[in-house]
Amino acid sequence: MIEHSIQLAPSILSADFAHLADHVGQATAGGASVIHVDIMDGHFVPNLTIGPPVVKSLRRSTRLPLDCHLMIENPDQFIPDFAEAGADWISVHQEACRHLNRTLNLIKQHECRAGVVINPATPVETLSEVLDIVDYVLVMSVNPGFGAQKFIPQTLHKMSKLAEIRSRKGYQFRIEVDGGVALDTVAEIVRAGAEILVAGNAVFGKGDAKANAQALLDAARSASLQKV
Ligand code: DX5
Ligand code: ZN
Repeated sequence: MIEHSIQLAPSILSADFAHLADHVGQATAGGASVIHVDIMDGHFVPNLTIGPPVVKSLRRSTRLPLDCHLMIENPDQFIPDFAEAGADWISVHQEACRHLNRTLNLIKQHECRAGVVINPATPVETLSEVLDIVDYVLVMSVNPGFGAQKFIPQTLHKMSKLAEIRSRKGYQFRIEVDGGVALDTVAEIVRAGAEILVAGNAVFGKGDAKANAQALLDAARSASLQKV
């Protein structure tokens, strides 16, 4: 079953980790329908975040799907642990996988949706042999590692290219975007073809997470209605 509408996936990276359940609840009240969880290992990206125990706790605090974005080396080693902890979607970086087909199949064997991620400098063409087996493609619109970075507009054409390939080949994957999604960038992002919008700073950075989520979703949905 494929959803075609715009979805907001708040990234908890910018939430207060001591009040995660509350923050997730506020974003959910504002219309979020997926929770994006950034997993960093200090090797693939220059930052460290969280592991399976936090995913396990989050699983008990929300009914929304947990979208685990693995920014780690050797993802095969940890996919079973994240699935066991309650991840619903798991994505891995093309740049981190020596055997990408095997890794994506491993995610599916654990009954999670399988996503593949590309960094800003990685072309869409590197995914040509896996687009028929992935459930979603995540286009990084910042270099991964930190929240609240500036959106890189040169990544927009990759979202359009993926949408074009999908319709030409009849593939089923959805298109997700991550990094710098905010009120001033969301319209062009949606018009380029992104459907699942990850947003950390724009939701949790300042002010009220519920109102922030609502405003971002409204802006995204009106931009998608204007899409030709
Ligand atoms: C960056 C992470 C993102 C990040 C997005 O490495 O993958 O999910 O939290 O942050 P914002 O929305 O703050 O740019
Ligand atoms: Zn992310």
